[in-house]
Amino acid sequence: MANGEGDQYDSSRIASSTIAGSATSAVSDETMTRISRHYFTNDNDRSSGDGFSVDIIENIQEEYGMFVWPCAIALAEYVWQQRSRFSSKSVVELGAGTSLPGLVAAKVGANVTLTDDSKNPEVLGLTWGEWDPPLFSLSPDFLLGADVLYDNSDFDDLFATATFLMKNCPGCVFITAYHARSGHHLIEYLMSKWGCKCTRLLDAFSTVPPTKASNLHGSIQLAEIVLNDHIT
Ligand SMILES: C[S@@+](CC[C@H](N)C(=O)[O-])C[C@H]1O[C@@H](n2cnc3c(N)ncnc32)[C@H](O)[C@@H]1O
Repeated sequence: MANGEGDQYDSSRIASSTIAGSATSAVSDETMTRISRHYFTNDNDRSSGDGFSVDIIENIQEEYGMFVWPCAIALAEYVWQQRSRFSSKSVVELGAGTSLPGLVAAKVGANVTLTDDSKNPEVLGLTWGEWDPPLFSLSPDFLLGADVLYDNSDFDDLFATATFLMKNCPGCVFITAYHARSGHHLIEYLMSKWGCKCTRLLDAFSTVPPTKASNLHGSIQLAEIVLNDHIT
C-alpha cells in the first residue's frame, strides 16, 4: 500500500526528496514487499530542488496484486506536469490501489480522497456501481483513475459512479489512463451512453520523460472526460 493511509491523505506524510530519475525499487524476500521510489522533478533536473519523490510499498504476492501499474506512473506524471490545476482542489482517486496519482495530487496541494473497492480496507471503500454512503459526501473537482478500464464487465459500473460524482460538482473532470487494448471506441461508446465527452486524448508516452517511458509497456492512453453540459 502507499506510504500513507486512509481517506483524506495528509501530504506532509509523504516521504520526499529531490532526486531526478526513474523509479527505483528494492525487494524484501521475507515479506514479498518492495518499496519503489518515484521521482517528480522539472525536466529531470536534479539540481533544481523543485520536486519530490514518493515511496510506495508494493506487495508483489500474486493474490494481493498491489503494484504500481504503468497507467499509474503515466497518470501521476500527468498530475505533476499539470500541477497548477490541482492546487487546493478536491480530488477523488477511484480504484486507487497503491495510489501514486492521488499521492502526487496531494503533494502538489490538492485535498485528496483515495478510494477503492470496499473489499480493500486501506482506503475509503467506494465500489463502482454501488451507492455506499461515502459516495454522497464527495464533491470532487477532479476524479483520477489509473488502469480502472481493464474489465469490460465493470465499465458501466465505473461510469455510473464517475458520472454521479461529476454531477455532484459542476466542472468536475475525470482524468483516466488506460491501456489502448481497452479500446477507445468502446470508451467513446460509454461516454456517449453516460452523457460525457472527451476533451483531451493523449498518448501517455508523449507526456512522460524518457527515464519513465522505459518503465512503461504497451500503449497507454490518457483521457480527460467531462459531462456534456460541462461548466468551465
Ligand atoms: C489494475 S488495478 C489499478 C490500481 C492503481 N490504480 C494503479 O494503476 O496502480 C485496478 C484497481 O481497481 C480496483 N477495482 C476493481 N474493481 C473495482 C470496483 N468494482 N470498484 C472499485 N474498485 C475496483 C481494484 O481494487 C484495483 O485497485
